[in-house]
Amino acid sequence: MTSIKIAPSILAADFARLGEEVALVEHDADLLHVDVMDGHFVPVVSIGGPVVRSLRKATNLFLDCHLMCSKPEVLFDEFAEAGADRIIFHIELGDPRPNIERLRDLGIGVGIVMNPPTPVAEVFPYLDAVDMVLVMSVNPGWGGQPFIPEALEKVSALRDEIQARGLQCPIEIDGGIKQENAAVAAAAGADILVAGSAVFGAADPAAAVQAIRHAATSAQRSDA
Ligand code: DX5
Ligand code: ZN
Repeated sequence: MTSIKIAPSILAADFARLGEEVALVEHDADLLHVDVMDGHFVPVVSIGGPVVRSLRKATNLFLDCHLMCSKPEVLFDEFAEAGADRIIFHIELGDPRPNIERLRDLGIGVGIVMNPPTPVAEVFPYLDAVDMVLVMSVNPGWGGQPFIPEALEKVSALRDEIQARGLQCPIEIDGGIKQENAAVAAAAGADILVAGSAVFGAADPAAAVQAIRHAATSAQRSDA
């Protein structure tokens, strides 16, 4: 069994104190989830390359950059140079192969993500070409939304597909994850749990990461 990983999303952090906020989870988190919104793929704008560059100087955590962007490819070079470890882009944009190839050329990790209305089978052809697959359990655009339970069926279906084909692709889940539903997410087969408001909205973010990890680990699917 692989150990469950927790990825706090900085979208819920205080951006004016970002370095301090990240330092609070540096020792307990496994990755840092960086939500990039372009005001087009989703109606709001968040952060871009300059913040990734500053984060790179402030933390040793793996920078997992979720691009909610209509043209993610325009950011690839800047993000690679800024120190992003992995870029996650959306399957809803169409054939992902050119983007996968471009990211491979840049030597950066590749993740693919699907929104709640997108059928899970759309990512099946690419599971052997990416480093991670992400299931959205909210519609992207904002932190703090309620978890959409149908996402669990997608996680299970992905786990079955990955097992059946003997692949190693980790499954991440993003949106509305907190201590109360971490167990069902892990039981469905998720390996990496993203949590924004449940971590940075907590009085003690490090303790929140530990609590989510504890809840998930005790429920992890046995073939994960
Ligand atoms: C949603 C983002 C999520 C979000 C998670 O648009 O992709 O990563 O920040 O935040 P919570 O955990 O608050 O739902
Ligand atoms: Zn995200």
